[in-house]
Amino acid sequence: MKKKKNEKERLRDMLADSEFSIKGQCAISLLLTKLDIINTVLLIDSGRNVIQMKNGRMKSYESVCKKMQKKGLELNFETAVEKLNDLIGVRAICAYVDDIYRVAELVEKQKDIRIIKEKDYIKEPKKSGYQSLHLILEIAIAFQNGTQWIKMELQLRTAAMDYWANLDHQLRYKKGKKEAELIDEELRQCAEVIGNLDRKMLEIRKKIDKI
Ligand code: GTP
Ligand code: MG
Repeated sequence: MKKKKNEKERLRDMLADSEFSIKGQCAISLLLTKLDIINTVLLIDSGRNVIQMKNGRMKSYESVCKKMQKKGLELNFETAVEKLNDLIGVRAICAYVDDIYRVAELVEKQKDIRIIKEKDYIKEPKKSGYQSLHLILEIAIAFQNGTQWIKMELQLRTAAMDYWANLDHQLRYKKGKKEAELIDEELRQCAEVIGNLDRKMLEIRKKIDKI
């Protein structure tokens, strides 16, 4: 019992104030800078900002506990680092769906980034309707005692996908069990509408590109 409590305290400390969290912040800064450069490269080519917004965060102790409990994992730091891909996370909002793949391609080309896993929830949305492209990657950072590869998650999505995901996230906590199924279905339908909207906007842009 005491050991479990200590493990939980250690998990909280490691996430908030430790070498791990400092290195995590470094990984976030580095990836955000890389995305800046990628945006500039694509701006030269396309004449517009392909990445409209981006941010990074370290997952909070509360969300880590919630996710680990949901997955039936023991609450300790080592398990969290091994099993959760998004302890360190960056999200970038792109203008159009094809921009997402352009950005992803350039991220994959970086010499100091290696892709562990790609989850394409745009081609295959989740059962909830959720759409985004997730890259689980490792980014190399040179520290005093050598280079370390740090695991993190990059989520790429359009503004419409982001709008849906944020409201879905909010509503998920509020809805009661009884109405859940009906609301799930309605949210899935909204996700479909949003998918169609993104496709339509891309079509319009492509038409204008040709002029
Ligand atoms: P969890 O789904 O969170 O247990 O993580 P996972 O390891 O199964 O990975 P997954 O690719 O399913 O989800 C990773 C992240 O994507 C989550 O932490 C959320 O940020 C986001 N996400 C996945 N599914 C949904 C969803 O249905 N709604 C919303 N709003 N976000 C989602
Ligand atoms: Mg999941």
